[in-house]
Amino acid sequence: MEEQDVVSVHVENRIAWVNFARPAKRNAMSPTLNRRMMEVLDELEYRDDVGVLVLGGEGTSWSAGMDLKEYFRETEALGLRGVRKSQAESYGWFRRLRWYHKPTIAMVNGWCFGGGFGPLFACDLAICADEAQFGLSEINWGILPGGGVTKVVVDLLPMRDAMWLTLTGDLIDGKAAATMRLVNESVPLDQLKTRTTQVAEMLLKKNPVALKFAKDAVRRVGTMTYDEAEDYLVRMQEAANFHDKSEGRKEGIRQFIDEKSYKPGLGSYDL
Ligand code: ACO
Repeated sequence: MEEQDVVSVHVENRIAWVNFARPAKRNAMSPTLNRRMMEVLDELEYRDDVGVLVLGGEGTSWSAGMDLKEYFRETEALGLRGVRKSQAESYGWFRRLRWYHKPTIAMVNGWCFGGGFGPLFACDLAICADEAQFGLSEINWGILPGGGVTKVVVDLLPMRDAMWLTLTGDLIDGKAAATMRLVNESVPLDQLKTRTTQVAEMLLKKNPVALKFAKDAVRRVGTMTYDEAEDYLVRMQEAANFHDKSEGRKEGIRQFIDEKSYKPGLGSYDL
């Protein structure tokens, strides 16, 4: 019987701290964890008291990837139906997180293996500890990086780095991951939460409607031609204007031009 709290949640000052919480199993993603994570994302997504979601890991690991026993061996034993069901559950919450209504930050404290690259990529920003270790260990146990992971490294990294990680299964630490741009920043482990909080608080000061449309735009335009992207961005801004009942863009201009209370080049207007 699987433990109940495979995901922990704590909301404080408009930041939802969501943790992989199977530290004894290095936060490997079991079908139970995948189902619970989808429920948690669902519960938090439109709450007014949540402005940013941070995905962290309890114990020494962020996530040791998919659970080799519960996600692979035990679902394969159930036949194709079992396999497809668990794939749908894991891919489902990764997708939900990629298009999440709130900005998201991966806070990587330790191990990040294989399938863990799915939620890593799904988060908009990523901050890790220098002590974190990232690896595509799939090749070490005889499979290719599936579940979108090959796509993740090709999208995030230059081809030589993507190929190196894929073929060697080599580990890289947090600093190397930041140099490679797999994450935004790497900081010493004892500063990880403080730095992540600072970044989350910076996001909380931005117009939330603009954040949602901007993060989606960054993910969408990559596969578009220039003309398609130009058109998409016009339409999305018009849609944002409709959704932003605070008319933030007008207020932003007013506070700069009329009130002279801030400078957009140097920071955000008062929400
Ligand atoms: N799947 C299932 N169980 C796991 C996983 C995993 N991915 N990772 C760790 N565990 C379990 C171990 O079996 C062990 O269980 P036990 O206490 O019942 O024996 C427990 O977690 C602790 O693991 P240890 O190996 O003892 O921990 P250690 O800190 O020494 O090593 C490490 C951590 C390096 C993460 C190691 O556990 C490991 O190599 N795990 C597998 C990583 C991996 O290759 N993941 C799959 C990536 S590919 C994919 O996701 C598609």
